[in-house]
Amino acid sequence: MSDTPIDSSKRTWIITSACAGAVGGVATAVPFVSTFQPSEKAKAAGAAVEVDISALKPGEKVTVEWRGKPVWIIKRSPEQLAELPALDGQLADPQSQRKPSELTPEYARNEYRSIKPEIMVAVGICTHLGCSPVDKLQAGPQPSLPDDWKGGFLCPCHGSTFDLAGRVFKNKPAPDNLEVPPHKYLSETKLLIGEDKA
Ligand code: FES
Repeated sequence: MSDTPIDSSKRTWIITSACAGAVGGVATAVPFVSTFQPSEKAKAAGAAVEVDISALKPGEKVTVEWRGKPVWIIKRSPEQLAELPALDGQLADPQSQRKPSELTPEYARNEYRSIKPEIMVAVGICTHLGCSPVDKLQAGPQPSLPDDWKGGFLCPCHGSTFDLAGRVFKNKPAPDNLEVPPHKYLSETKLLIGEDKA
């Protein structure tokens, strides 16, 4: 007879390790993101994280850790931005109307889900069961994706796909768009993740 408790704990471990792996890649991926170093105690309490995005080029992505979660920052190219409105008909919640107060702050409830059109900020955790989607930023046919793929993310756990605004495609296991964390700009090239009050 199979042992259900072992199965369920194994499943939880797989999901946890997938997310931990996503955060673990942060330090090597973004060596220049180091302008603000909150204390360990402050980090545990969810301190905001300052990020210098001056080195980010169009099409590039960096990941920072906030409250133990990977937060993605992507500088979308003009071509990538131009594709977003055309995807609305294929998305489950193109205007981010579902759970807007939980997942999309008011200042990101717009065509690009962002404060500045070119800069996407989103929590890289799938809204289905918490895996970390992988980058599929390049447009074009590729395995597990439609031939007219415009760039975005694929969750390897159960196949949910998200566009370059973190919006989930229709008929996928993930029920909602990726979370846009509270954030604001401290200057033209400095972002504060985790706080949005003046
Ligand atoms: S956890 Fe992402 S599709 Fe299931």
